[in-house]
Amino acid sequence: MKNVLILSASPRKQGNSDILCDEFKKGAIESGNSAEKIYLYDNNISFCRACYACFKTGKCVIQDDMSEILEKISKADVLVIATPTYFLTMNGMLKTVIDRFLPKWQDLGGHDVYLIITGHDGKKGLELVELELKTIFVHLGNTVKKTIWGEGVWQKGEVVSTKAMAEAYETGKNL
Ligand SMILES: Cc1cc2nc3c(=O)[nH]c(=O)nc-3n(C[C@H](O)[C@H](O)[C@H](O)COP(=O)(O)O)c2cc1C
Repeated sequence: MKNVLILSASPRKQGNSDILCDEFKKGAIESGNSAEKIYLYDNNISFCRACYACFKTGKCVIQDDMSEILEKISKADVLVIATPTYFLTMNGMLKTVIDRFLPKWQDLGGHDVYLIITGHDGKKGLELVELELKTIFVHLGNTVKKTIWGEGVWQKGEVVSTKAMAEAYETGKNL
């Protein structure tokens, strides 16, 4: 049994990437894993201030929900990182969360990571997002196992009629 943590970064609840998170979660739970989705916009998460206090204390000076999220990341076996593509890159919410990894960045390895990337473009137009997320998570000492592409989806919920749904579910089921 694996402990699965899903970070859903879209501002659209039940938008395309969030729906794929739920499919992944459903598959993971059905095959006996424990899984939690954190809908990041429900949390209070500020920008990194680059004060570097964490280099001395190991703790962030900002008191918000990020410390709890970092704890949960540390405890997870599997991380699912889901973002819509915004101007060819990950969205600002996800980048804000990743910047706040700083206090624990040497302690965030050892996970199997799955990426969920959505966008109105085809896969070619979304590949930069995979490249940057792969590079970051591998650099932190993780294994990036697979990317689930929600390609060609613009309107909220459009992803339900695509093959990405089954892919997300099956990937969650076969961790
Ligand atoms: C600010 C902004 C920028 C976007 N930039 C891109 C882009 O560069 N490439 C793309 O394919 N889609 C782009 N999109 C479309 C979203 O990626 C697309 O609607 C996606 O399905 C949203 O996922 P969500 O439903 O999970 O929020 C952009 C949307 C917004 C709001």
